[in-house]
Amino acid sequence: MEQALKPIGTRLVVNRRGSTVWDVRTTAGRYAVKVGRPVPETDEHPGQDWTGVAPAREAAILQSLQAFSVYGTWEYGTWNVQPWHAGTDLYELWKPHRSGEIGIAFDLTPALACATKIASLHDSGWVHGDIQPAHCIVGADNTAAIIDLALAQGGLLPNTLEFPYPGCLVHYESPEISRSILETGTAVPTTASDVYAFGASLFISATGWRHVEYPDDAPRAVQRKAVATVPHRPVTIPGMFGKLVEAMLSPVPGDRPTSHEVCSILACAIDAAG
Ligand SMILES: Nc1ncnc2c1ncn2[C@@H]1O[C@H](COP(=O)(O)OP(=O)(O)O)[C@@H](O)[C@H]1O
Ligand SMILES: [Mg+2]
Repeated sequence: MEQALKPIGTRLVVNRRGSTVWDVRTTAGRYAVKVGRPVPETDEHPGQDWTGVAPAREAAILQSLQAFSVYGTWEYGTWNVQPWHAGTDLYELWKPHRSGEIGIAFDLTPALACATKIASLHDSGWVHGDIQPAHCIVGADNTAAIIDLALAQGGLLPNTLEFPYPGCLVHYESPEISRSILETGTAVPTTASDVYAFGASLFISATGWRHVEYPDDAPRAVQRKAVATVPHRPVTIPGMFGKLVEAMLSPVPGDRPTSHEVCSILACAIDAAG
């Protein structure tokens, strides 16, 4: 721990309302340091307190999954330290495909690596609840990490770390989650809503399109109304991969493949391409 407290390089990764993340190199290793605080109310957005608790909650979940993490409190909220996962997120990784720079078939290996991690999270009894391309990190050797477990649901946590599930980024939210958030202010994420979110992540990473069409600057409730009521964009990705994404985006949760089925189909598509 003493080594971990001696940073030899610190880089600010994100600093947004409610959350700041640093990439910290120490002689003992590379860590992500996350600091959370409540988001105050503005004219456009209601405030939210959960962002203050999120780092501690995530660390407790990492610990229950036997991953290293430490956490604590500071004046305005909580913080955590966790291992840094070097790599590139799925959206960045598939940029050459989106811009048409390379005309070759998709390399689905990174998608399978991410799907495998999601399936093993599901096997351990947890639902991620916030799957998005930025949370799917793929390393140089095609090992994946699914990060940001702050909203995961599954195991028992201390009461002080709990808050109602607030939904995820609407660009990846399944219709049933959007509907429930609009009606009740919260929702119960499921393995099926994770599969939907991963499907929407694959779709946007492969094509640049959001799963459902709504104006960029629409308020969140309007975005959610669209997700809850408007059919998703047609999936124009060809072949087995396109069929898979289409099934993952099914409006009926029970019609979606499980995360293990997603792995099997991606493995099949990789075999067929190879
Ligand atoms: N353990 C980690 N390894 C690598 N990158 C990370 C890690 N944790 C966070 N990051 C980077 O910081 C960004 C924000 O972190 P995230 O965990 O999503 O927090 P939040 O959404 O609360 O800001 C991620 O998109 C990623 O780029
Ligand atoms: Mg995040």
